Amino acid sequence: MFLVFNDPQAVSQYVSQRLIELIKDRPHAILGLATGSTMEPVYQRFCCDAKEQALDVSKLISFNLDEYIGLSAEHPQSYHYFMNEHLFNHLNFAKQKTFVPDGKPEDVEAHCRQYSQKIVDCGGIDLQLLGIGSNGHIGFNEPGTPFDSRTHVVELSEQTRIDNGRFFDSMDEVPSRAVTIGLQDIMDAHKVFLIATGDNKAQVMLDLYESEVDERMPASVLKKHHNTLFIVDKKAAALLPAAACQYID
Ligand code: F6R
Repeated sequence: MFLVFNDPQAVSQYVSQRLIELIKDRPHAILGLATGSTMEPVYQRFCCDAKEQALDVSKLISFNLDEYIGLSAEHPQSYHYFMNEHLFNHLNFAKQKTFVPDGKPEDVEAHCRQYSQKIVDCGGIDLQLLGIGSNGHIGFNEPGTPFDSRTHVVELSEQTRIDNGRFFDSMDEVPSRAVTIGLQDIMDAHKVFLIATGDNKAQVMLDLYESEVDERMPASVLKKHHNTLFIVDKKAAALLPAAACQYID
């Protein structure tokens, strides 16, 4: 079932409220965080609401999904930079507890192993926020990624490089590899919100709806996760049958 809201603002308001409830209930919660255009209004709304309510986020731990290989945290197109700009710098996050995969690790394989292990050691993710790529990727788990994968290095598909090219001056600058947490890491989260907004997500929402649980459609693994909400706006839901949608006014 897809929860369908009017627009990205209504989606953001809903997600922000759920986040605030969780944090009030569990100040030490472990959040799984995503980057990307979908998340921008969500974080903006959350920052606004959190400030208004003087919410203390200093006890939270967070793990980001992914990072481009070759970009340092200071690079304006890195996901680390994105998180600082859109979320971490605006509230009293304890930066030493906001984990983002390192885009320039000395030993990338060791870094991957340690990243998944650290999530487990912290007690597992309470709420995982996800966007979705036009090919169905979640995190940077591209079609064909094994469902039992842990944090790993990924060669980005041409489609993903083209989709993300809009943030770079030229296609040559778009990294070709990334570190991403795996599909099993995502499935281990207690609760998952998959968020999709806008016309450009309508086709992938239909593909996801129609897909069997199949590694060719990475997000389809979430159909096996019993605590996942698919949260979309009307534009992203445009191709879905009404019977699959619960409209929220
Ligand atoms: C980002 C991430 C990606 C994006 C997806 C959608 O951390 O893991 O899976 O969520 O590519 O990106 P946007 O929201 O820019 O359409």
